[in-house]
Order: sequence, then C-alpha cells, then structure tokens
Amino acid sequence: MNKVLVSLLLTLGITGMAHAAGDAEAGQSKVAVCGACHGADGNSPAPNFPKLAGQGEVYLLKQMKDIKAGSTPGAAEGVGRKVLEMTGMLDPYSDQDLEDIAAYFSSQKVTVGMADPALVELGESLYRGGKLELGMPACTGCHAPNGVGIELAAFPHLGGQHATYTAKQLTDFREGNRTNDGEVAIMRTIASKLSNKDIEALASYIQGLH
Ligand code: HEC
Ligand code: HEC
Repeated sequence: MNKVLVSLLLTLGITGMAHAAGDAEAGQSKVAVCGACHGADGNSPAPNFPKLAGQGEVYLLKQMKDIKAGSTPGAAEGVGRKVLEMTGMLDPYSDQDLEDIAAYFSSQKVTVGMADPALVELGESLYRGGKLELGMPACTGCHAPNGVGIELAAFPHLGGQHATYTAKQLTDFREGNRTNDGEVAIMRTIASKLSNKDIEALASYIQGLH
C-alpha cells in the first residue's frame, strides 16, 4: 500500500482526534432513538442496520457528520452520506452530542457472527491478499488482519459486522451510491475491482472476523 497516503491519512486522523473528545456517559443518554435500529448497546438486531458497538470513535463521528449533511431534507445529491432511514434524524444534535454518542458506541463491545464455510476461502484470500493482478491492495493494510481498523486514521472496524450491511456498502461504493470516502476515493477504487461473488465472500468472511 501507498505509505505516503497512509501517513497523510494518519495525520488527518490525528487532527480529527483532537476534536473527538466525547463523554460516553453523556452519550448513553442521547441514543434512545437510535436503539430501535442499531440496538441499545450498538449491536443491531437486523442485518441491514450496521452494528455501531466497538466502532472507532473518529470514524463514527465522521459518519454522523456525513449522514447529518447528506440526510437532511433537501440535501443536494453527492453531499455527505445519504441514509434514507435517518432522514433529518441527526439535525437536532450538536457537534458535542455527536462526539458523546461516538464515545458511547465506541466503548461498547461488538458481537461477532459466523462466516459461511463455503465462502471463507475466497473471502480470506481477498481480505488478506487483495487482487494483485488488478492492483487491488489487501484489506488488512487499512482494516487490520483481525478487522479492528485503525482508530486514529478513521479506518473503520469491520470485524463482526452484519454481512448484509457490508455487502451493501461495498456495492454502494462500487456503483457510486456512497461517495464519502474522500477525494482519493479509496473505497470506490477498491470496490470497482470486486465482482458480486467477491463482495459476497468478503462480507461473509468479515462477519466472522475477530
Ligand atoms: C430507522 C432506522 C435507523 C435509526 C432510528 C437510526 N439509524 Fe443509523 N443507520 C440506519 C441505516 C439503515 C444505516 C446504514 C445505511 C446504509 O446502508 O448505508 C445507518 C447508518 C448509521 C451509521 C454509519 C455506520 C457505519 O458503519 O458506517 C451511524 C454512525 C449511525 N447510523 C448512527 C445513528 C445514530 C447516532 C442514530 C440515533 C440518533 C441512528 N443512527 C438512528 C438506520 C437507522
Ligand atoms: C487504503 C486504505 C483502505 C484499504 C486498503 C481498504 N479500505 Fe475499506 N475503508 C477505508 C476507509 C478510509 C473507509 C471509510 C470511508 C469513509 O470515511 O466513509 C473504508 C470503509 C470501508 C467499509 C465501510 C464500513 C462501514 O461501516 O460502513 C467497508 C465495508 C470496507 N471499507 C471494506 C474494505 C474491504 C473489504 C477492503 C479490501 C478489499 C478494504 N476495505 C480495503 C480504507 C481502506
């Protein structure tokens, strides 16, 4: 992987960290409305709603800011991140509220699921080895071999995430329906090298990864 890119992102992540000073206890009192979909402790019961438990604080804060900008009624196409189910939902929250919520979910423990044994081999080889012939890097470089991500760089924790949700994200990046991965379009570029079968295998492997 490109070392310059990583150190740049690390620098940006550390800069972001200076602002991520949330209070987990205060956050717990602000998430009642989120629990219906994401689970009270961030372990969502439904496979299309992402688990937030144990997710990196810097990444959570970035996503909430992106969702707030992209999911406010009337937001322009391509701004932030559009989540129809969360339309307008984050508008009443201040930056401090979002920092507290990020701290709360980040402090919870994520539950891990199971990988489909029939897909493990392909999923693991893509996750750990990438697709060299297409210049696609391994996922491990940014999301770590055990899927915990890199907190300060806002590289998300993937391990244990619902396969249905992960597959939708990879497809959304590939089709350009999710565009909040920065100007260098890291995830859009990576996902453009993945077939439907690759996505299914990676998502299943990640669900059991810990
Ligand atoms: C009605 C269901 C619903 C409710 C209520 C809801 N969300 Fe979500 N949320 C979603 C869905 C669905 C997604 C993923 C959409 C997609 O596929 O991209 C999401 C995505 C997210 C993400 C991005 C996760 C990631 O891994 O990138 C965060 C963070 C988040 N929600 C926070 C919240 C918070 C905080 C609240 C409460 C204030 C909340 N959500 C309430 C449905 C909901
Ligand atoms: C060069 C670093 C890098 C590599 C390599 C990389 N990713 Fe990512 N990935 C990111 C970043 C950064 C984000 C967060 C983008 C954002 O802020 O929305 C991300 C986001 C994601 C998400 C969305 C998580 C969520 O909760 O919504 C998934 C899924 C994902 N990556 C899977 C993969 C897979 C699978 C691979 C390997 C095929 C991979 N990534 C390789 C940097 C990387």
